[in-house]
Amino acid sequence: MKDRTLLERTLTLELARVTEAAAIAAYAQVGRGDEKAADQAAVDAMRRALNMLPIEGTVVIGEGERDEAPMLFIGEKVGTGNGPKVDIALDPLEGTTLTAKAMPGALAVVAIAEGGSLLHAPDTYMDKIAIGGGYPDGVVDLDADPRDNILALAKAKGVKPNQIKACVLDRPRHADIISKVREVGAAVCLIPDGDIAGVIHCAEPATGIDIYMGQGGAPEGVLAAAALRCIGGQIQGRLVFRNDDERQRAARIGIKDLKKKYTMMDMASGDVMFAATGVTTGSMLTGITEVGNTITSETVVMRSLTGTVRWIKTRHQRAQG
Ligand code: FBP
Repeated sequence: MKDRTLLERTLTLELARVTEAAAIAAYAQVGRGDEKAADQAAVDAMRRALNMLPIEGTVVIGEGERDEAPMLFIGEKVGTGNGPKVDIALDPLEGTTLTAKAMPGALAVVAIAEGGSLLHAPDTYMDKIAIGGGYPDGVVDLDADPRDNILALAKAKGVKPNQIKACVLDRPRHADIISKVREVGAAVCLIPDGDIAGVIHCAEPATGIDIYMGQGGAPEGVLAAAALRCIGGQIQGRLVFRNDDERQRAARIGIKDLKKKYTMMDMASGDVMFAATGVTTGSMLTGITEVGNTITSETVVMRSLTGTVRWIKTRHQRAQG
């Protein structure tokens, strides 16, 4: 008898349509200097596409709380209602600034998993550490000194510390991490934005990135954990609260232990599917291109159950009239 807890596998391919729609909509805003308009275009398109999916979906990582986000807010129900109950984590435009400034690496991203499988994270910061697959559990730790993490990872990889490369968001708050990583001889790849891709790079040997460290968005942390569940790797995260309002946000969505160190399975368990489409060309995906009425997109879709990763290049015809 069919196991009803598993998602239909065709849903992974359906997810490509969702991120393609968001990426194509955001593409119209590339280089126009308007982050809000770019995000809104992606949100509208992603919502329309999600509502065509045969799922009973609940947005658990979305555009914000109900009173501040009119669409794709946390708790919003999406899908036709005819299908499996799923949690949805989404970032219709990961890299709003990258898009507004026509810089590399903007993505449209979504992950789904069986209902109750994705962490309901508030829109706060999260301290994160991530590595790719093939290492013993716990080889690096969020609470360890960055120097010790680099040394432990180098040892586990069988290389010298100067052959390790860390990916870090280029922010003043990361000065200490950056100097400690360099102190033990490792290299630092600084990225302007986009730490979902930063984490995924750790699991893709061709990128040369071994470890991601630093503080970024909590929603992005859950989406990155969903991707790593599919392609292998380890990630730990801890929510960071700057004020009482952020603590209350966490409490409202049911988080009791504000200091909890989340593992990958805490953030994304069950049967997880992940999709991302490039908006602007970056290190992970080619962005949208348009020639005449033909739009081309590149999407990656993955599933934790099988570990299958597909790259889908799609030609779309722009609607006439
Ligand atoms: P947005 O697309 O929401 O702007 O997020 C981009 C991003 O770089 C994320 O990838 C990252 O997690 C977060 O911003 C970091 O936040 P901040 O820019 O405040 O340091």
